[in-house]
Amino acid sequence: MTRNPGNPAHAQTGPAKAISEDGRVPVDLLISPIGELVTARSQAGPIRGEEMRDVCRIKDAAIAISAGQIIAVGSADEIKHAVFADDTTVVIDARESLVTPGLVDAHTHLIFDGNRADEFVMRSQGKTYTEIAAAGGGIVKSMRATQNADVERLVSLGRKRVERMLESGTTALEVKTGYGLEMESEMRMLEAIYRLKSESALDIVPTFMAAHAIPPGKEREAYVDDIVGDMLPRVVAMATQEAEREGVALTDMLPYVDVFCDRGYFTLEDTRRIFAASIRLGLKPRVHSDEFVNLGATALAVELGAASADHLLNVSDEEIALLAKSSTVAVLLPGTSFYLNLSDHAPARKMIEEGVAIALATDYNPGSCHISSLPFVWGLACLHLKMLPEEALTALTVNGAWAIGLGTNIGQLRPGFQADITIYDVEQLEEVPYNIGWNPVKQVIKMGRTIYSR
Ligand code: NIG
Ligand code: FE
Repeated sequence: MTRNPGNPAHAQTGPAKAISEDGRVPVDLLISPIGELVTARSQAGPIRGEEMRDVCRIKDAAIAISAGQIIAVGSADEIKHAVFADDTTVVIDARESLVTPGLVDAHTHLIFDGNRADEFVMRSQGKTYTEIAAAGGGIVKSMRATQNADVERLVSLGRKRVERMLESGTTALEVKTGYGLEMESEMRMLEAIYRLKSESALDIVPTFMAAHAIPPGKEREAYVDDIVGDMLPRVVAMATQEAEREGVALTDMLPYVDVFCDRGYFTLEDTRRIFAASIRLGLKPRVHSDEFVNLGATALAVELGAASADHLLNVSDEEIALLAKSSTVAVLLPGTSFYLNLSDHAPARKMIEEGVAIALATDYNPGSCHISSLPFVWGLACLHLKMLPEEALTALTVNGAWAIGLGTNIGQLRPGFQADITIYDVEQLEEVPYNIGWNPVKQVIKMGRTIYSR
Protein backbone atom coordinates (compact mmCIF):
# COMPACT_ATOMS: atom_id res chain seq x y z
CA MET A 1 0.00 0.00 0.00
CA THR A 2 0.98 3.61 -0.21
CA ARG A 3 1.98 5.12 3.10
CA ASN A 4 0.30 8.48 3.45
CA PRO A 5 2.21 10.75 5.86
CA GLY A 6 -0.93 12.56 6.99
CA ASN A 7 -2.79 9.33 7.61
CA PRO A 8 -3.40 8.52 11.30
CA ALA A 9 -3.18 4.74 10.91
CA HIS A 10 0.05 4.93 8.97
CA ALA A 11 1.71 7.36 11.40
CA GLN A 12 1.34 4.87 14.26
CA THR A 13 3.53 2.18 12.78
CA GLY A 14 6.96 2.68 14.31
CA PRO A 15 10.04 0.52 13.88
CA ALA A 16 9.92 -3.12 14.96
CA LYS A 17 11.14 -3.92 18.49
CA ALA A 18 14.35 -5.88 19.14
CA ILE A 19 14.30 -9.70 19.21
CA SER A 20 14.72 -11.26 22.69
CA GLU A 21 17.74 -13.31 23.80
CA ASP A 22 15.88 -16.60 23.39
CA GLY A 23 15.04 -15.64 19.81
CA ARG A 24 11.36 -14.81 20.32
CA VAL A 25 9.97 -11.86 18.42
CA PRO A 26 8.48 -8.96 20.40
CA VAL A 27 5.00 -7.80 19.41
CA ASP A 28 2.97 -4.57 19.61
CA LEU A 29 -0.36 -6.33 19.42
CA LEU A 30 -1.31 -9.88 20.26
CA ILE A 31 -4.79 -11.19 19.52
CA SER A 32 -5.06 -14.32 21.63
CA PRO A 33 -6.90 -16.52 22.12
CA ILE A 34 -9.24 -16.33 19.12
CA GLY A 35 -12.40 -18.50 19.00
CA GLU A 36 -12.05 -19.11 15.26
CA LEU A 37 -9.61 -17.54 12.82
CA VAL A 38 -10.44 -17.86 9.13
CA THR A 39 -8.39 -16.68 6.19
CA ALA A 40 -7.99 -17.50 2.55
CA ARG A 41 -4.42 -17.78 1.34
CA SER A 42 -2.82 -17.32 -2.04
CA GLN A 43 0.79 -17.06 -3.07
CA ALA A 44 0.14 -15.04 -6.19
CA GLY A 45 -3.01 -13.75 -7.78
CA PRO A 46 -6.68 -14.21 -7.00
CA ILE A 47 -8.10 -17.58 -5.96
CA ARG A 48 -10.31 -19.62 -8.31
CA GLY A 49 -12.44 -22.70 -8.53
CA GLU A 50 -12.53 -25.19 -5.67
CA GLU A 51 -9.70 -23.36 -3.96
CA MET A 52 -12.09 -20.55 -3.15
CA ARG A 53 -13.67 -22.72 -0.46
CA ASP A 54 -10.38 -24.17 0.71
CA VAL A 55 -9.76 -21.57 3.41
CA CYS A 56 -7.63 -21.96 6.51
CA ARG A 57 -9.75 -22.28 9.70
CA ILE A 58 -8.04 -22.42 13.09
CA LYS A 59 -9.82 -22.82 16.44
CA ASP A 60 -8.14 -21.37 19.55
CA ALA A 61 -5.87 -19.28 17.33
CA ALA A 62 -3.67 -16.21 17.73
CA ILE A 63 -2.18 -13.44 15.62
CA ALA A 64 0.95 -11.47 16.48
CA ILE A 65 1.53 -8.02 15.03
CA SER A 66 4.56 -5.78 14.95
CA ALA A 67 4.97 -2.38 13.27
CA GLY A 68 1.57 -2.64 11.60
CA GLN A 69 2.32 -5.99 9.99
CA ILE A 70 1.31 -9.53 10.80
CA ILE A 71 4.36 -11.47 11.97
CA ALA A 72 2.80 -14.76 13.06
CA VAL A 73 -0.51 -16.62 12.72
CA GLY A 74 -1.29 -20.00 14.24
CA SER A 75 -2.67 -21.80 17.26
CA ALA A 76 -2.58 -19.78 20.48
CA ASP A 77 -0.10 -22.27 21.85
CA GLU A 78 2.31 -22.03 18.91
CA ILE A 79 2.23 -18.26 18.93
CA LYS A 80 2.89 -18.13 22.69
CA HIS A 81 6.20 -19.88 22.09
CA ALA A 82 7.14 -17.90 19.01
CA VAL A 83 6.70 -14.33 20.27
CA PHE A 84 6.93 -12.44 23.53
CA ALA A 85 4.73 -9.74 24.95
CA ASP A 86 6.16 -7.01 27.16
CA ASP A 87 4.27 -4.38 29.13
CA THR A 88 3.82 -2.24 26.02
CA THR A 89 2.12 -5.06 24.09
CA VAL A 90 -1.62 -4.63 23.64
CA VAL A 91 -3.45 -7.93 24.10
CA ILE A 92 -6.94 -8.53 22.70
CA ASP A 93 -8.85 -11.47 24.08
CA ALA A 94 -11.09 -12.79 21.27
CA ARG A 95 -11.88 -16.18 22.76
CA GLU A 96 -15.55 -16.12 21.82
CA SER A 97 -15.06 -14.31 18.53
CA LEU A 98 -14.51 -14.93 14.86
CA VAL A 99 -11.53 -13.17 13.27
CA THR A 100 -11.02 -12.64 9.52
CA PRO A 101 -8.92 -10.38 7.35
CA GLY A 102 -10.37 -6.86 7.06
CA LEU A 103 -13.09 -6.90 4.39
CA VAL A 104 -12.41 -5.33 1.00
CA ASP A 105 -15.13 -3.48 -0.94
CA ALA A 106 -13.94 -3.51 -4.56
CA HIS A 107 -16.82 -1.50 -6.08
CA THR A 108 -18.46 1.60 -4.58
CA HIS A 109 -19.96 4.87 -5.76
CA LEU A 110 -19.38 6.42 -2.34
CA ILE A 111 -19.32 10.09 -3.38
CA PHE A 112 -22.60 11.76 -4.30
CA ASP A 113 -24.87 14.46 -2.95
CA GLY A 114 -28.62 14.13 -2.35
CA ASN A 115 -30.45 10.84 -2.14
CA ARG A 116 -32.93 8.87 -4.23
CA ALA A 117 -35.26 7.51 -1.55
CA ASP A 118 -38.15 8.49 -3.84
CA GLU A 119 -36.93 5.94 -6.39
CA PHE A 120 -36.95 3.24 -3.75
CA VAL A 121 -40.64 3.99 -3.23
CA MET A 122 -41.26 4.04 -7.01
CA ARG A 123 -39.69 0.58 -7.24
CA SER A 124 -41.91 -0.71 -4.48
CA GLN A 125 -44.78 0.52 -6.64
CA GLY A 126 -43.54 -1.61 -9.51
CA LYS A 127 -41.35 0.76 -11.58
CA THR A 128 -38.05 -0.62 -12.89
CA TYR A 129 -34.59 1.04 -12.72
CA THR A 130 -34.79 1.71 -16.47
CA GLU A 131 -38.27 3.26 -16.25
CA ILE A 132 -37.22 5.47 -13.34
CA ALA A 133 -34.10 6.64 -15.21
CA ALA A 134 -36.19 7.41 -18.32
CA ALA A 135 -38.53 9.52 -16.16
CA GLY A 136 -35.68 11.82 -15.05
CA GLY A 137 -34.44 9.80 -12.10
CA GLY A 138 -31.37 7.58 -11.97
CA ILE A 139 -27.76 8.67 -12.26
CA VAL A 140 -28.72 12.02 -13.82
CA LYS A 141 -30.72 12.96 -10.74
CA SER A 142 -27.68 12.38 -8.53
CA MET A 143 -25.62 14.33 -11.06
CA ARG A 144 -27.77 17.43 -10.53
CA ALA A 145 -27.27 17.31 -6.76
CA THR A 146 -23.56 16.46 -7.00
CA GLN A 147 -22.73 19.19 -9.52
CA ASN A 148 -23.80 21.77 -6.92
CA ALA A 149 -21.52 20.42 -4.19
CA ASP A 150 -18.02 21.75 -3.53
CA VAL A 151 -15.08 19.47 -2.72
CA GLU A 152 -15.39 20.16 1.00
CA ARG A 153 -18.98 18.97 1.04
CA LEU A 154 -18.22 15.88 -1.04
CA VAL A 155 -15.42 14.95 1.36
CA SER A 156 -17.60 15.39 4.42
CA LEU A 157 -20.40 13.29 2.90
CA GLY A 158 -17.86 10.64 1.91
CA ARG A 159 -16.24 10.62 5.35
CA LYS A 160 -19.50 9.68 7.08
CA ARG A 161 -20.08 6.85 4.63
CA VAL A 162 -16.54 5.50 5.03
CA GLU A 163 -17.18 5.51 8.79
CA ARG A 164 -20.34 3.50 8.24
CA MET A 165 -18.51 0.94 6.12
CA LEU A 166 -15.78 0.64 8.72
CA GLU A 167 -18.42 -0.22 11.33
CA SER A 168 -19.39 -3.16 9.10
CA GLY A 169 -15.82 -4.43 8.91
CA THR A 170 -14.56 -2.83 5.69
CA THR A 171 -10.87 -1.87 5.80
CA ALA A 172 -10.22 -1.10 2.11
CA LEU A 173 -12.47 0.19 -0.63
CA GLU A 174 -12.56 1.39 -4.19
CA VAL A 175 -14.44 4.67 -4.86
CA LYS A 176 -15.66 5.93 -8.26
CA THR A 177 -16.42 9.36 -9.66
CA GLY A 178 -19.38 9.47 -12.05
CA TYR A 179 -21.98 11.89 -10.72
CA GLY A 180 -20.27 14.98 -12.15
CA LEU A 181 -20.62 14.09 -15.84
CA GLU A 182 -18.75 17.19 -16.99
CA MET A 183 -15.12 18.13 -16.59
CA GLU A 184 -15.09 20.36 -13.51
CA SER A 185 -17.60 18.34 -11.51
CA GLU A 186 -15.83 15.06 -12.29
CA MET A 187 -12.51 16.62 -11.23
CA ARG A 188 -14.09 17.81 -7.97
CA MET A 189 -15.26 14.27 -7.30
CA LEU A 190 -11.80 12.88 -8.03
CA GLU A 191 -10.22 15.48 -5.76
CA ALA A 192 -12.66 14.54 -2.98
CA ILE A 193 -11.65 10.88 -3.36
CA TYR A 194 -7.95 11.80 -3.14
CA ARG A 195 -8.66 13.90 -0.03
CA LEU A 196 -10.47 10.97 1.60
CA LYS A 197 -7.65 8.64 0.61
CA SER A 198 -5.13 10.93 2.22
CA GLU A 199 -6.98 11.47 5.49
CA SER A 200 -8.58 8.07 6.02
CA ALA A 201 -7.12 5.18 8.00
CA LEU A 202 -8.70 2.88 5.40
CA ASP A 203 -7.09 2.06 2.06
CA ILE A 204 -9.01 3.97 -0.61
CA VAL A 205 -8.50 3.24 -4.32
CA PRO A 206 -9.83 5.83 -6.80
CA THR A 207 -11.60 5.13 -10.09
CA PHE A 208 -12.49 7.74 -12.70
CA MET A 209 -15.94 7.04 -14.13
CA ALA A 210 -17.08 10.04 -16.15
CA ALA A 211 -18.59 7.40 -18.46
CA HIS A 212 -21.33 6.57 -15.96
CA ALA A 213 -24.17 8.15 -17.95
CA ILE A 214 -24.64 10.56 -20.82
CA PRO A 215 -25.32 14.05 -19.44
CA PRO A 216 -28.64 15.55 -20.61
CA GLY A 217 -28.32 17.85 -23.62
CA LYS A 218 -25.10 16.24 -24.82
CA GLU A 219 -24.64 13.86 -27.74
CA ARG A 220 -23.15 10.56 -26.64
CA GLU A 221 -20.27 10.71 -29.10
CA ALA A 222 -19.42 14.30 -28.20
CA TYR A 223 -19.34 13.34 -24.54
CA VAL A 224 -17.01 10.43 -25.27
CA ASP A 225 -14.81 12.89 -27.20
CA ASP A 226 -14.70 15.10 -24.07
CA ILE A 227 -13.70 12.17 -21.88
CA VAL A 228 -10.99 10.95 -24.22
CA GLY A 229 -9.65 14.31 -25.34
CA ASP A 230 -10.00 16.53 -22.27
CA MET A 231 -10.85 14.65 -19.10
CA LEU A 232 -8.41 11.71 -19.11
CA PRO A 233 -5.33 13.95 -19.55
CA ARG A 234 -6.60 16.14 -16.67
CA VAL A 235 -6.99 13.02 -14.54
CA VAL A 236 -3.35 12.11 -15.10
CA ALA A 237 -2.30 15.69 -14.28
CA MET A 238 -4.24 15.57 -11.00
CA ALA A 239 -2.79 12.16 -10.11
CA THR A 240 0.71 13.50 -10.81
CA GLN A 241 0.10 16.44 -8.49
CA GLU A 242 -1.26 14.15 -5.77
CA ALA A 243 1.71 11.80 -6.08
CA GLU A 244 4.10 14.72 -5.65
CA ARG A 245 2.18 16.05 -2.66
CA GLU A 246 2.14 12.64 -0.95
CA GLY A 247 5.71 11.83 -1.95
CA VAL A 248 4.80 8.55 -3.63
CA ALA A 249 5.24 7.07 -7.10
CA LEU A 250 2.74 8.15 -9.75
CA THR A 251 1.69 4.53 -10.25
CA ASP A 252 0.43 4.50 -6.64
CA MET A 253 -1.89 7.42 -7.38
CA LEU A 254 -3.25 6.70 -10.86
CA PRO A 255 -6.96 5.88 -10.73
CA TYR A 256 -8.65 3.09 -12.62
CA VAL A 257 -11.06 4.04 -15.42
CA ASP A 258 -14.55 2.54 -15.46
CA VAL A 259 -17.32 2.64 -18.09
CA PHE A 260 -21.00 1.70 -17.72
CA CYS A 261 -21.33 -0.37 -20.90
CA ASP A 262 -25.03 -1.10 -21.17
CA ARG A 263 -28.19 -0.28 -23.12
CA GLY A 264 -28.98 3.44 -22.79
CA TYR A 265 -25.48 4.19 -21.45
CA PHE A 266 -22.24 3.56 -23.36
CA THR A 267 -21.80 1.27 -26.37
CA LEU A 268 -19.06 -1.30 -26.78
CA GLU A 269 -17.37 1.02 -29.29
CA ASP A 270 -17.44 3.95 -26.80
CA THR A 271 -16.05 1.66 -24.14
CA ARG A 272 -13.24 0.51 -26.41
CA ARG A 273 -12.33 4.11 -27.29
CA ILE A 274 -12.27 5.23 -23.67
CA PHE A 275 -10.21 2.24 -22.57
CA ALA A 276 -7.75 2.56 -25.45
CA ALA A 277 -7.13 6.20 -24.49
CA SER A 278 -6.86 5.23 -20.81
CA ILE A 279 -4.31 2.51 -21.46
CA ARG A 280 -2.23 4.92 -23.58
CA LEU A 281 -2.08 7.18 -20.51
CA GLY A 282 -1.19 4.34 -18.13
CA LEU A 283 -4.68 4.08 -16.61
CA LYS A 284 -6.01 0.58 -16.08
CA PRO A 285 -9.61 -0.26 -17.04
CA ARG A 286 -12.40 -1.93 -15.08
CA VAL A 287 -15.93 -2.16 -16.41
CA HIS A 288 -19.64 -2.24 -15.53
CA SER A 289 -20.64 -5.13 -17.75
CA ASP A 290 -23.78 -7.18 -18.47
CA GLU A 291 -25.89 -5.57 -15.74
CA PHE A 292 -29.02 -5.22 -17.87
CA VAL A 293 -27.98 -6.48 -21.33
CA ASN A 294 -24.86 -8.09 -22.77
CA LEU A 295 -23.05 -5.73 -25.16
CA GLY A 296 -19.78 -7.67 -25.17
CA ALA A 297 -17.94 -5.65 -22.52
CA THR A 298 -16.73 -8.69 -20.61
CA ALA A 299 -14.89 -10.10 -23.61
CA LEU A 300 -13.42 -6.62 -24.16
CA ALA A 301 -12.33 -6.45 -20.51
CA VAL A 302 -10.45 -9.73 -20.85
CA GLU A 303 -8.93 -8.65 -24.16
CA LEU A 304 -7.59 -5.46 -22.58
CA GLY A 305 -6.43 -7.04 -19.32
CA ALA A 306 -8.94 -5.07 -17.23
CA ALA A 307 -8.62 -5.33 -13.46
CA SER A 308 -12.25 -6.38 -13.15
CA ALA A 309 -15.57 -6.89 -14.92
CA ASP A 310 -18.44 -6.11 -12.58
CA HIS A 311 -22.15 -7.07 -12.28
CA LEU A 312 -22.18 -9.87 -14.96
CA LEU A 313 -25.85 -10.80 -14.60
CA ASN A 314 -26.00 -11.46 -18.35
CA VAL A 315 -22.51 -12.79 -18.98
CA SER A 316 -22.32 -15.50 -21.69
CA ASP A 317 -20.80 -18.97 -21.33
CA GLU A 318 -18.07 -18.00 -23.80
CA GLU A 319 -17.18 -14.99 -21.69
CA ILE A 320 -17.09 -17.10 -18.53
CA ALA A 321 -14.52 -19.30 -20.27
CA LEU A 322 -12.52 -16.22 -21.25
CA LEU A 323 -12.61 -14.83 -17.70
CA ALA A 324 -11.44 -18.16 -16.31
CA LYS A 325 -8.28 -17.96 -18.39
CA SER A 326 -7.61 -14.30 -17.57
CA SER A 327 -6.40 -12.23 -14.65
CA THR A 328 -9.59 -10.12 -14.77
CA VAL A 329 -11.56 -10.55 -11.54
CA ALA A 330 -15.36 -10.93 -11.77
CA VAL A 331 -16.79 -8.56 -9.18
CA LEU A 332 -20.31 -9.71 -8.27
CA LEU A 333 -22.76 -7.33 -6.62
CA PRO A 334 -25.69 -9.31 -5.21
CA GLY A 335 -26.81 -6.26 -3.22
CA THR A 336 -27.77 -4.57 -6.49
CA SER A 337 -29.93 -7.36 -7.89
CA PHE A 338 -31.56 -7.60 -4.44
CA TYR A 339 -32.12 -3.83 -4.18
CA LEU A 340 -33.50 -3.65 -7.72
CA ASN A 341 -35.76 -6.55 -6.85
CA LEU A 342 -34.52 -8.58 -9.84
CA SER A 343 -35.20 -12.29 -9.92
CA ASP A 344 -32.01 -12.99 -11.87
CA HIS A 345 -28.59 -13.05 -10.30
CA ALA A 346 -25.06 -13.43 -11.61
CA PRO A 347 -24.22 -17.11 -12.36
CA ALA A 348 -21.70 -17.43 -9.54
CA ARG A 349 -21.78 -21.24 -9.28
CA LYS A 350 -21.10 -21.68 -12.97
CA MET A 351 -18.25 -19.15 -12.78
CA ILE A 352 -16.67 -20.91 -9.81
CA GLU A 353 -16.96 -24.28 -11.56
CA GLU A 354 -15.29 -22.86 -14.65
CA GLY A 355 -12.45 -21.30 -12.63
CA VAL A 356 -13.31 -17.59 -12.69
CA ALA A 357 -11.84 -15.56 -9.82
CA ILE A 358 -14.81 -13.96 -8.06
CA ALA A 359 -14.85 -10.97 -5.73
CA LEU A 360 -17.93 -9.60 -3.94
CA ALA A 361 -18.61 -5.92 -3.32
CA THR A 362 -21.46 -3.62 -2.28
CA ASP A 363 -21.86 -1.32 -5.34
CA TYR A 364 -22.90 1.21 -2.66
CA ASN A 365 -24.59 4.08 -4.56
CA PRO A 366 -27.60 6.38 -4.15
CA GLY A 367 -29.89 4.53 -6.57
CA SER A 368 -29.50 0.91 -7.51
CA CYS A 369 -27.96 -0.27 -4.23
CA HIS A 370 -27.93 1.86 -1.13
CA ILE A 371 -26.26 -0.92 0.87
CA SER A 372 -22.92 -0.30 2.56
CA SER A 373 -22.55 -3.50 4.60
CA LEU A 374 -20.31 -6.30 3.35
CA PRO A 375 -21.62 -8.77 5.98
CA PHE A 376 -25.06 -8.18 4.45
CA VAL A 377 -23.68 -8.78 0.95
CA TRP A 378 -22.08 -11.95 2.33
CA GLY A 379 -25.54 -13.20 3.37
CA LEU A 380 -26.96 -12.37 -0.06
CA ALA A 381 -24.06 -14.11 -1.79
CA CYS A 382 -24.91 -17.31 0.09
CA LEU A 383 -28.67 -17.04 -0.43
CA HIS A 384 -28.91 -15.68 -3.97
CA LEU A 385 -25.60 -16.61 -5.60
CA LYS A 386 -25.45 -19.98 -3.78
CA MET A 387 -21.90 -19.35 -2.64
CA LEU A 388 -20.52 -21.16 0.39
CA PRO A 389 -19.55 -18.98 3.37
CA GLU A 390 -15.89 -19.84 2.74
CA GLU A 391 -16.09 -18.90 -0.95
CA ALA A 392 -17.70 -15.61 0.00
CA LEU A 393 -14.93 -14.89 2.51
CA THR A 394 -12.31 -15.47 -0.21
CA ALA A 395 -14.29 -13.18 -2.54
CA LEU A 396 -14.53 -10.46 0.14
CA THR A 397 -10.85 -10.50 1.08
CA VAL A 398 -8.10 -11.95 -1.15
CA ASN A 399 -9.99 -11.58 -4.43
CA GLY A 400 -11.36 -8.13 -3.57
CA ALA A 401 -7.82 -7.02 -2.79
CA TRP A 402 -6.52 -8.34 -6.14
CA ALA A 403 -9.41 -6.66 -7.96
CA ILE A 404 -8.22 -3.26 -6.69
CA GLY A 405 -4.51 -3.85 -7.07
CA LEU A 406 -3.69 -4.44 -3.39
CA GLY A 407 -3.45 -8.25 -3.43
CA THR A 408 0.17 -8.47 -2.34
CA ASN A 409 -0.43 -6.45 0.87
CA ILE A 410 -3.95 -6.97 2.13
CA GLY A 411 -6.72 -9.56 2.27
CA GLN A 412 -4.88 -12.34 4.13
CA LEU A 413 -3.96 -13.15 7.71
CA ARG A 414 -0.44 -14.16 6.96
CA PRO A 415 3.06 -13.02 7.98
CA GLY A 416 4.21 -10.04 5.95
CA PHE A 417 0.69 -8.82 5.23
CA GLN A 418 -0.70 -5.56 6.53
CA ALA A 419 -2.43 -6.13 9.91
CA ASP A 420 -5.99 -5.37 8.76
CA ILE A 421 -8.35 -7.47 10.85
CA THR A 422 -12.10 -7.68 11.46
CA ILE A 423 -13.39 -9.20 14.71
CA TYR A 424 -17.00 -10.43 14.95
CA ASP A 425 -19.30 -11.10 17.86
CA VAL A 426 -20.00 -14.64 16.62
CA GLU A 427 -18.07 -17.85 17.18
CA GLN A 428 -17.76 -19.31 13.70
CA LEU A 429 -17.69 -18.31 10.05
CA GLU A 430 -21.16 -19.52 9.04
CA GLU A 431 -22.76 -17.22 11.60
CA VAL A 432 -21.90 -14.10 9.61
CA PRO A 433 -24.16 -14.83 6.59
CA TYR A 434 -26.61 -16.60 8.91
CA ASN A 435 -27.11 -13.36 10.84
CA ILE A 436 -27.93 -11.40 7.65
CA GLY A 437 -29.37 -8.01 8.59
CA TRP A 438 -27.60 -7.78 11.96
CA ASN A 439 -24.11 -6.31 12.04
CA PRO A 440 -21.88 -8.82 13.84
CA VAL A 441 -18.71 -6.67 13.62
CA LYS A 442 -17.39 -5.59 17.01
CA GLN A 443 -13.83 -4.43 16.40
CA VAL A 444 -11.71 -3.43 13.43
CA ILE A 445 -7.92 -3.21 13.31
CA LYS A 446 -6.08 -1.35 10.58
CA MET A 447 -2.29 -1.64 10.30
CA GLY A 448 -2.14 -3.04 13.82
CA ARG A 449 -4.23 -0.33 15.47
CA THR A 450 -7.85 -0.52 16.62
CA ILE A 451 -9.76 2.03 14.57
CA TYR A 452 -13.26 0.88 15.47
CA SER A 453 -14.65 -0.76 18.54
CA ARG A 454 -18.35 -1.24 19.30
O1 NIG B 1 -23.48 -0.06 -10.48
N1 NIG B 1 -24.71 0.56 -13.08
C1 NIG B 1 -24.26 1.69 -12.99
N2 NIG B 1 -23.99 2.31 -11.86
C2 NIG B 1 -24.57 1.97 -10.64
C3 NIG B 1 -25.88 2.65 -10.47
C4 NIG B 1 -25.65 4.00 -9.97
C5 NIG B 1 -26.90 4.77 -9.72
O2 NIG B 1 -28.01 4.31 -9.99
O3 NIG B 1 -26.71 5.89 -9.24
C6 NIG B 1 -24.59 0.48 -10.50
O4 NIG B 1 -25.63 -0.16 -10.35
FE1 FE C 1 -21.63 0.31 -9.89
